[in-house]
Amino acid sequence: MVESVWIVGCGDVGLRVAKRLQQEGLEPTGVVRSRQSLERLEAAGVRALQCDLDTQSAPLKGTVIWLAPPPREGRTEPRLARCLHAGSAIRRLLYLSTSGVYGDCGGEWIDESAPIAPKSARAQRRADAEHQLAAWRSATGGDYVVIRVPGIYGPGRLPEARLRDGTPVIAADAAPYTNRIHVEDLAAATLCVLRHGETGQAYNVADGNPTTMTDYFLRCAALLGLPAPPQLPPEEARTHMSAAMWSFMEESKRLRVDRLRDALGFQWQYPDLASGLPACLSSEIAKDA
Ligand SMILES: NC(=O)c1ccc[n+]([C@@H]2O[C@H](COP(=O)([O-])OP(=O)(O)OC[C@H]3O[C@@H](n4cnc5c(N)ncnc54)[C@H](OP(=O)(O)O)[C@@H]3O)[C@@H](O)[C@H]2O)c1
Repeated sequence: MVESVWIVGCGDVGLRVAKRLQQEGLEPTGVVRSRQSLERLEAAGVRALQCDLDTQSAPLKGTVIWLAPPPREGRTEPRLARCLHAGSAIRRLLYLSTSGVYGDCGGEWIDESAPIAPKSARAQRRADAEHQLAAWRSATGGDYVVIRVPGIYGPGRLPEARLRDGTPVIAADAAPYTNRIHVEDLAAATLCVLRHGETGQAYNVADGNPTTMTDYFLRCAALLGLPAPPQLPPEEARTHMSAAMWSFMEESKRLRVDRLRDALGFQWQYPDLASGLPACLSSEIAKDA
């Protein structure tokens, strides 16, 4: 019998994962909230189910790749909770979490043994999801793995509008460290961790070559042929940013990816921005395609 694979939250990352699974002869089902996304998946040749996780639990079984975000409010993850309670037929679940669960690390290099200390509500919701999964495993023997993901970049995801607007950035010497992963490497790493990750374990999925947020914006401007954004001291730059954007600036860390590389043998196609950014212009799959 062909393995049942569900991709919950089958958007930009999910569609790339689905395409990889199809190349292996599998037929995953993507779960989305809106009619528009359902039609987009079907047009891309992916089996799809429309289900609003805020009010319903998806009929999950077999392998589950959970890419859907938590709700925008609160400090818990009720969408996952609903499906875990209903999902006794789940064989293995991969949960996409965020590196934000580590909170601010003062620019230090950290690996997965660093304590979970989420600062923002956004990261607290993801940490709640991780705790739910650990409790699910204790109670039911459920099999799961977690990937902790930083900023995702790729085709259609570059900060073009912001650069066109000339929005300032934090001066290079005061900018926090940030970590990135190219969306195609994320899709590949998702399947690598799903298949080979140790149950109950978390894996940082970044490219292993962190830079600063300002470096990222300067590189994107150069790539897109746009003027470099003005650089301001942090408190001045803050007045030009949304609260959500600023919450990213208040955290600085450098993610080690030894576990993904050494324990699972993962190989990056784009191990740094120098290789990954140019590929954002030439890739065939654009986010809005
Ligand atoms: N942006 C970043 O740099 C970053 C960093 C770390 C982690 N992440 C996370 O990575 C994950 C994948 O990112 P992505 O770019 O692929 O996201 P995306 O393109 O926005 O896709 C998200 C998917 O989740 C579905 N979804 C959202 N709310 C739902 C609900 N209530 N019920 C059912 N489905 C729901 C959406 O369906 P509809 O389209 O129908 O709403 C969509 O298919 C997300 O969880 C994101 O938060 C992003």
